[in-house]
Amino acid sequence: MKDPGIFITLEGPDGSGKSTQALLLIRFLKKSGYKVLHTREPGGDRIAESIRRLLLSPHNKITPETELFLYWASRSQHVQQVINPALARGMIVVCERFNDATLAYQGYGRGVDLKLIKKMNQLASGGLIPDLTFLLDISPERGLKKVLEAKGVKDRFELEKLSFHKRVRRGYLDLAEQEPQRIKKISGSGTIEHIHQQIRCITNKKLGQ
Ligand SMILES: Nc1ncnc2c1ncn2[C@@H]1O[C@H](COP(=O)(O)OP(=O)(O)O)[C@@H](O)[C@H]1O
Ligand SMILES: [Mg+2]
Repeated sequence: MKDPGIFITLEGPDGSGKSTQALLLIRFLKKSGYKVLHTREPGGDRIAESIRRLLLSPHNKITPETELFLYWASRSQHVQQVINPALARGMIVVCERFNDATLAYQGYGRGVDLKLIKKMNQLASGGLIPDLTFLLDISPERGLKKVLEAKGVKDRFELEKLSFHKRVRRGYLDLAEQEPQRIKKISGSGTIEHIHQQIRCITNKKLGQ
């Protein structure tokens, strides 16, 4: 039987550099000879991508509960259809956002009970836990500025008040303190290359290189 793959997630507020760093990490891993899958939440397969559009459209008025159920629906689909099959083939899966994002945004950000979120996260992900998570930490002011510069428009989450984004950041930092073995906090305010080097170094250690 093949070795099971490795599941790496990238977390952090909007504009913290997740997509940028995912691409660099994947390029590095591919060059090192690994088979890699790049994916993101919410989304990842056809049904989950439809849910992503529902969730992010600024035109949709979504209740907090609907929002949560849509995330979990999307995650279940994503894990079973995309992530688990890739891990079973021995691939390294690099995913932007996962269970920690639900805790940070809907738990710390919107005030939904954290214990309940943890339970439902477990159900939706079938108990899958990332082997390694990079938390790109950046102030919300800086992150949102970068998003606006890059895209020119904000999605439904980016339109939230600054106080919401501050709670999300605090939440992510709490999670990193609770699970320092898995969640590696990296300052998102360094240069792209410097952040990449740190991610590379920690990933190499995990891969036993
Ligand atoms: N370390 C960095 N320093 C300066 N700009 C960055 C850095 N990392 C990313 N960016 C830029 O900030 C914007 C948001 O980055 P992105 O990777 O899309 O963040 P996310 O996926 O977390 O929302 C992009 O325009 C990107 O080029
Ligand atoms: Mg992104």
